[in-house]
Amino acid sequence: MQTVTLNSGVEMPILGFGVFQIPDDQTQAAVEAAIEAGCRHLDTAASYGNEEAVGAAIAASGIARDELFVTTKLWIQHAPTGSVEDDTLRAFDASLRRLGLDQLDLYLIHQPLGDYYSEWRALQQIYSEGRARAIGVSNFYPDRLVDLIEHNEITPAVNQIETHPFHQRVADQELMRERGVQIESWGPFAEGRNNLFTNPVLPAIGEAHGKSVAQVVLRWLVQRDVVVIPKSVRPDRMAQNLDIFGFTLTDDELKQIAALDTGDSQFFDHRDPAMVISLGGLRID
Ligand SMILES: NC(=O)c1ccc[n+]([C@@H]2O[C@H](COP(=O)([O-])OP(=O)(O)OC[C@H]3O[C@@H](n4cnc5c(N)ncnc54)[C@H](OP(=O)(O)O)[C@@H]3O)[C@@H](O)[C@H]2O)c1
Repeated sequence: MQTVTLNSGVEMPILGFGVFQIPDDQTQAAVEAAIEAGCRHLDTAASYGNEEAVGAAIAASGIARDELFVTTKLWIQHAPTGSVEDDTLRAFDASLRRLGLDQLDLYLIHQPLGDYYSEWRALQQIYSEGRARAIGVSNFYPDRLVDLIEHNEITPAVNQIETHPFHQRVADQELMRERGVQIESWGPFAEGRNNLFTNPVLPAIGEAHGKSVAQVVLRWLVQRDVVVIPKSVRPDRMAQNLDIFGFTLTDDELKQIAALDTGDSQFFDHRDPAMVISLGGLRID
């Protein structure tokens, strides 16, 4: 599997498997099937409510721990103990316990909301103790990312953000490259929104290579050096989503896909006050 090298020196598989919105009672089977299909990179979060099931699948797989790359995410901490740093350390321990692991490959701050500076100080401690091989963030817009970098010791290794043909993040990726932050796509298919799977451009490109729209999108991201973690509950699609390394998109095809960019989210804006209140009000643990 092709990898990217993070600023912590860690090798991260460029392609993985995400488990957002897979019901808890289906997650173990889905992750076991993904591993069986050859996937070695898993992405979950405390807020997905399925870390235990991911851990059960890892345990059942028999795959050596150092062959798997496991990411989970910290939900917004509300300082019930009075210290967001202490709560973050506790939340990290709880995630590790649920996953049945003693070390994470990547631990992310899930949202640029609440007291994420205190959360980041705790993540720096976790990293310096070797309990996570890399630490990073998710959903950080360029201004928040640069501010965090400017005022802390450790630069996030990764920023996991919505990235797909309708929201391509080219300028964001360039800024991250300059700052040593790896871009990781969430929602590579925009969860099918805006008719992604039937958009006329993508199937035509797929036909030219004997590939599906999903494979064209994943190949396009990997050719841009974007790490990506598609979700599926169907083993046939899991296999298809891993089979993207045997073809190359031409410059003309890349131009056609570039023209699909709207520059906007297909979901929501983390800077929208209504979203800030809604996400900030969600309590996990
Ligand atoms: N950091 C964040 O805030 C954040 C937010 C959202 C997501 N994420 C992460 O990113 C991962 C991926 O994003 P996502 O789950 O939101 O959406 P996504 O991967 O863009 O789309 C998933 C959808 O595409 C379908 N699909 C998958 N492979 C397909 C294929 N080969 N052909 C046709 N349809 C296919 C799936 O259906 P079936 O399951 O029925 O196959 C599912 O409906 C998540 O699982 C999560 O790990 C992170």
